[in-house]
Amino acid sequence: MDISGLFSVKGRVALVTGGSAGIGRMIATGLGAAGARVYICARNAEKVASAAASIPGDVIGLAGDVSTLEGIGKLVGEITAREAALHILVNNAGTLSDAPLDSFSEDQWDDVLELNLKTPFFLLQKLLPLLRAGGTAERPSAVINIGSVGALKIGPREVYSYQASKGAIHWLTKSLAKRLASENVTVNAIAPGFFESEMTVITDDAMRRMVESAVPRGRTGTPEDVAGAAIYLASRAGAYVTGSVIAVEGGLSI
Ligand SMILES: NC(=O)c1ccc[n+]([C@@H]2O[C@H](COP(=O)([O-])OP(=O)(O)OC[C@H]3O[C@@H](n4cnc5c(N)ncnc54)[C@H](OP(=O)(O)O)[C@@H]3O)[C@@H](O)[C@H]2O)c1
Repeated sequence: MDISGLFSVKGRVALVTGGSAGIGRMIATGLGAAGARVYICARNAEKVASAAASIPGDVIGLAGDVSTLEGIGKLVGEITAREAALHILVNNAGTLSDAPLDSFSEDQWDDVLELNLKTPFFLLQKLLPLLRAGGTAERPSAVINIGSVGALKIGPREVYSYQASKGAIHWLTKSLAKRLASENVTVNAIAPGFFESEMTVITDDAMRRMVESAVPRGRTGTPEDVAGAAIYLASRAGAYVTGSVIAVEGGLSI
């Protein structure tokens, strides 16, 4: 067996939503370093441009809001104008809302379900022609949905719509994987544990000790941890993996 290209994503074309910060930026950085052409999108145009300029490799920033069908249509139009095929779609942009049960509002459901659940579905739907064009039996196109450890184990925060949206995206991953397997498109989810980001901030040493002591591996996640899982799923090594939820959480859900 020649394993020299087994984990390669060189020359592949990727889109990472929410690629200007946090986990999306970690994955975009890994894919870029591994030789993929990476499109990143997020709402704040300045941050997208500065992330695209500072991440090494072939990284292109596209500003836009993927929480609406209109925003999705605009992004898909921009990618379609530039590329004949897409090999890797990372549905990463997400949001979280927490409030006590008694005051949890309808808006806190709608915003979270729109972005965390409906957006990955419609972005995949609209990008299907490009994903189909990019996949072969040997090298399928790879859709990677970012789920959460919050859907594997209930944590301390009151994030009802978030947990439900992430449980649903894990399950949606499976139904789409079954539907698209014969069309050379794999669909998997990564369920991250605690990665420091704009969404997940460690405010002081006491909180750091508390977080780290809850994780069997004794630390928070690093860019290499989550980028490694994405590169695996997007490479030839991951071609036979579909419908899986890969927990990258240092054992937090055990
Ligand atoms: N961090 C963790 O520990 C953790 C754990 C489990 C799961 N996750 C999941 O990982 C994903 C990323 O989380 P994160 O912690 O990295 O979040 P983050 O630091 O808040 O980054 C979110 C990214 O998404 C972009 N974004 C937000 N809303 C958007 C929209 N409507 N359209 C386009 N882009 C949008 C943001 O840029 P703009 O604000 O400029 O749009 C930013 O680039 C989420 O799905 C989250 O649920 C995170």
